[in-house]
Amino acid sequence: MTTLPEAVSLRRTFAIISHPDAGKTTLTEKLLLFGGAIQMAGAVRARGEQRRARSDWMAIERERGISVTASVMSFEHGGLFFNLLDTPGHEDFSEDTYRTLTAVDSAVMVLDAAKGIETQTRKLFEVCRLRDVPIVTFVNKVDREGRDPFDLLDEIEKTLALDVCPLTWPIGMGRDLKGVYDLTADQVLLFEQTRGDHIPEGIDMPLEDPRLDDLVGAAAAAKLREDVELVRGACPSFDIEAYRAGHLSPVFFGSALRNFGVRELLNGIGRLSPPPRPQPTDLRVVDPLEEKVAGFVFKIQANMDPNHRDRIAFFRLCSGRFKRGMKLKHVRSGKVMAVVNPVFFLARDRELAEEAFPGDIMGIPNHGALRIGDTLSESEDLRFTGIPSFAPEVLRRVRLDDPLKAKQLRKALEDLAEEGVSQLFKPLNGGSWIVGVVGMLQFDVIANRIESEYSLKAGFEDAPFETARWVHSEDKLLIKRFVESNSSSVAEDRDGALVFLARNSWTLGRAQQDFPELRFSATREQP
Ligand code: G4P
Repeated sequence: MTTLPEAVSLRRTFAIISHPDAGKTTLTEKLLLFGGAIQMAGAVRARGEQRRARSDWMAIERERGISVTASVMSFEHGGLFFNLLDTPGHEDFSEDTYRTLTAVDSAVMVLDAAKGIETQTRKLFEVCRLRDVPIVTFVNKVDREGRDPFDLLDEIEKTLALDVCPLTWPIGMGRDLKGVYDLTADQVLLFEQTRGDHIPEGIDMPLEDPRLDDLVGAAAAAKLREDVELVRGACPSFDIEAYRAGHLSPVFFGSALRNFGVRELLNGIGRLSPPPRPQPTDLRVVDPLEEKVAGFVFKIQANMDPNHRDRIAFFRLCSGRFKRGMKLKHVRSGKVMAVVNPVFFLARDRELAEEAFPGDIMGIPNHGALRIGDTLSESEDLRFTGIPSFAPEVLRRVRLDDPLKAKQLRKALEDLAEEGVSQLFKPLNGGSWIVGVVGMLQFDVIANRIESEYSLKAGFEDAPFETARWVHSEDKLLIKRFVESNSSSVAEDRDGALVFLARNSWTLGRAQQDFPELRFSATREQP
């Protein structure tokens, strides 16, 4: 039987961050192919017990119409277990993305070789930096004309303030692409050979070997030697500690579309990226090797069938060996829940999770008991931290077209808020509810889902507020005074926490000035 330390050391849980069109989807597909995820799903099919487990799940899925998009993809490669978490693709920065990144131990940043760092790359990178998530860089599309590799490295260093250390180097680019040189293994990977499904093995080839000239041509070989000398002189040598602390990024070059350099990337992630990391809680840091099981929910996905309200909670296991059926304490409610139907997500399949280890992501079907940020724990009543709600950047008043449906609308809005799509604020003076989102695009999503899933028509109109802040103080009297003097701009969030709705930055500054003892915060952790 695998021991807990062994299982932990074999897990790599990561996400891909990129600007739209840089090649995240293509790279994901190729990683899954490499990971043999498809064969793995096939292997699962062959095992009797697991076959039943899998088909049970599919029956549940059919019966209840649950549809879970590929938010998590797990696969095995080279004896390691990879969990790849998808980050939503649209351009609006979303809380969902942020929270997904709280559940990973490392990330791959994909850049288009012709474009370098783009706006969304930078935003996502900043989120990773908040938690010092180690980042591997993949410069994609080297089969097309791109920018000079030195120029790209320089841009990463300057705009992200991140040290870089190339571990592979392109030999030419675009039409002149001959291959990549593996700077750690001193191997050449030839591009010409990668037609069809055949992925060439690297050829051992020290740079000074004259055969290199025959392989890639004298000019390309000379350029490569010159480049590598420059790289070795200019870039810091690879320091795994600096990488794992989030200060240095190893860089790989390749083409996801042509499946070139992808295996080297995956092997790099396996070799360099950290296994599950210790996770902070309000009481102490939880080490993955602790025997007792604990973890947190970082995402909720609703069932797309309007007749059922089942949801899948995506749960990241942080410590201990999980066994199906296990009873865990739901710390927020204080209730004990048996986790009987957890599922793993394979590339094109899912199966009941009989056993899981730290770093693994399980989907837990539930009827709304589990919320984003919730902790399930076998040990003390601890709560994982760092999974906040963000102060919304856009606020709108809800307009209900049919007043008789107020109750249903409330339910719909509460459901969506629980999924983390939006935030809901109830003004203390009894006015119409206010919905807040981080990105404008989410309003379309909300209106659309309210109509299609709840058969309600609701609109959103301008609210006289620009932003919101959670207000904290131990001093009840002070809070009361604050509420009385701001009665038209105070509300409660869905947990009953006090929120100040500010008309603009001036009123926010004014409130802070008038009540200097109160804390106004732009994020809020789960209660
Ligand atoms: P995204 O998820 O980051 O948005 O990017 P996606 O993988 O969808 O890739 C965006 C476009 O870039 C696609 O082309 C894809 O084929 C192309 N692409 C991805 N990797 C490479 C690469 O290594 N080399 C080259 N030359 N192209 C690459 P598209 O025209 O938008 O779509 P499609 O018609 O090819 O599907």
